[in-house]
Amino acid sequence: MTETYDYSQIAPEGNIFLPKECKITHAKQVTQSERHFTLRYADGSNVSFEPGQIMELSLFGFGEIPLGYASSPAREDTWDVVIRTVGRVSTALNALNEGDSVYVRGPLGAGFPVKEFQGHDVLVVAGGIGLCATRSMIQYITDKRGEFEKFHLFYGARDPSQQLFLDDIANWKVSKDVDYHEIVDNADENWTGNVGVITDLFSKVTLSADTRVIICGPPIMFRFVIEECDKIGIKRENVYVDLERRMKCGVGKCGHCQINDKYVCCDGPVFRYSDIQDLEEAL
Ligand code: FES
Repeated sequence: MTETYDYSQIAPEGNIFLPKECKITHAKQVTQSERHFTLRYADGSNVSFEPGQIMELSLFGFGEIPLGYASSPAREDTWDVVIRTVGRVSTALNALNEGDSVYVRGPLGAGFPVKEFQGHDVLVVAGGIGLCATRSMIQYITDKRGEFEKFHLFYGARDPSQQLFLDDIANWKVSKDVDYHEIVDNADENWTGNVGVITDLFSKVTLSADTRVIICGPPIMFRFVIEECDKIGIKRENVYVDLERRMKCGVGKCGHCQINDKYVCCDGPVFRYSDIQDLEEAL
């Protein structure tokens, strides 16, 4: 684990396990299993995080789960999270509504090294719920569009009913700030767009070998997307993968997230692919 991890960032008052109360200011069911929440600190304090960082979100009596910040860091009073119902904690959280309290530890971990992307073409490849973890970086890029060259965004979902952030998608489709492409594994009767796997989208654009790439999605997706990047000649040190998984404590204490000498919660969740490509269990 990184020797220099600075706990003072996440626990200015000295207790890395102490969560802070938050209020839900907005709650919306966005797919059959996913709910989109907007949160603010109950004491009215501002939020500060980097794109790609995570939080531990908890509900007393149920437990806590790691989640990515799913909104722009430029919005300082509130932030977004999307929770998929998969277990006891997420089921309890997804039963909550506006005005309810939840508890947050964070921001945790290492996010996207934004400076490495500035002045370059950027490609974000988001599969399924991977769009949530990358949305803070996507919004950062569109907020500060002049700092980046071409911006391509690929989004793949299982079927149209699984697509998240429909308002964002409607904007991206008409925006000059982002070259947006989407695909679904399975179409329904209303879908007129691309059908297939997310790597099919590489044939829709011409990417430069100098592109900086962000990948977040189901584990199966990573290797195939990296193969496409290899074909273009994109260096693996310019490919960043977001590995939000297996986290428990979020602060380097429990070892749950460990991959060899890396702790996903502290050294990641964002990793340069060249730093983890030889770790067997990483992807
Ligand atoms: S989640 Fe990383 S050490 Fe506990």
